[in-house]
Amino acid sequence: MYSRITGTGSYLPEHILTNTDLESRIDTSDEWIYSRTGIEKRHIAAVDETTSDLAEKAALAAIADAKIKADDIDLIIIATTTPDLIFPSTACLVQQRLHIHGCPAFDVQAVCTGFIYVVNIADQFIRNGSAKCVLVIGAETISRIIDWQDRNTSVIFGDGAGAVIMQASATQGILSSHIHADGQYANLLNVPAGISSNYDKLKANQAFLTMQGNEVFKVAVNTLGRIVDETLAANSIQKEEIDWLVPHQANIRIISATAKKLGMPMDRVIVTVDKHGNTSAASVPLALDIAVRDGRIKVGDIVLLEAFGGGFTWGSVLLRY
Ligand code: UT7
Repeated sequence: MYSRITGTGSYLPEHILTNTDLESRIDTSDEWIYSRTGIEKRHIAAVDETTSDLAEKAALAAIADAKIKADDIDLIIIATTTPDLIFPSTACLVQQRLHIHGCPAFDVQAVCTGFIYVVNIADQFIRNGSAKCVLVIGAETISRIIDWQDRNTSVIFGDGAGAVIMQASATQGILSSHIHADGQYANLLNVPAGISSNYDKLKANQAFLTMQGNEVFKVAVNTLGRIVDETLAANSIQKEEIDWLVPHQANIRIISATAKKLGMPMDRVIVTVDKHGNTSAASVPLALDIAVRDGRIKVGDIVLLEAFGGGFTWGSVLLRY
């Protein structure tokens, strides 16, 4: 038994924040942001819009695309760094919205690599016979943990959600998935506050994302190069056999470096960072959904998903769409 993606969906909040908007708030410029990151704009959730709101809309689109009923779903997994609540999990909140009762539902925290982690987990549930139809989501309201006065981070991130339905199949969809972490880099990218540590910061609304961008950049480029090699070797395939690269959308310079490593022209790489910024766990499923819906990724294509994020965490999925 294998797992296959049978439907995709995504959702972006209505409000768009452009680089020009940011110029009036902090010491930055459209030219700096675009040339260093490739970002032109990002979507920001409304004050009363939560991660589960975005996740629900992406889920409904994926359910419709897969032509299933919500009741067919027997497992819900959400990758998020920005859950609505400390508990219940965002997955339970989405389960309630979809009027599904009884199936397991849980969140996974692997920051920007979250979607790769949850595809890996869903694939294992399906292959060992524990689930047949899994709702897999990456959703974030990362804007809530941004210090809007910090130009090192505020120009980069955005909100959004992407979802896929993964179903049991006699034909192989997910060819392999690879997940990794190395906690020695925890200090380079983090929110240094939580429930059992620096809770005062959380209560004072001072729990903000911090990033040593330059250091993260260097490790990300090297690590993503290695995960590409690991994925090709695990499947005994040549890089020329990959039809599409769907990378984590952190920085166009990181994306280009990975594409170069694969020898892929940029027109075989799905790029949304210009329009969405870095939406953390949502970035890969958002990019996948957009490329499936606009007809670039077709049934039968070989697609490589990859991501890198806080932890550090990193991983990849090779699939036949
Ligand atoms: O998704 C999870 C993983 N995250 C990533 O992969 C992010 C990886 N890092 C990056 O994408 C890049 O490092 C950044 C986009 C965050 C920063 O780009 P950079 O080319 O590494 O810039 P830098 O941090 O080395 O800063 C260069 C200069 C500095 O000024 P000085 O010291 O050279 O005078 C910064 O103060 O740019 C300045 N700077 C800015 N200037 C205008 C930093 N941020 C800004 C800004 N606007 N927003």
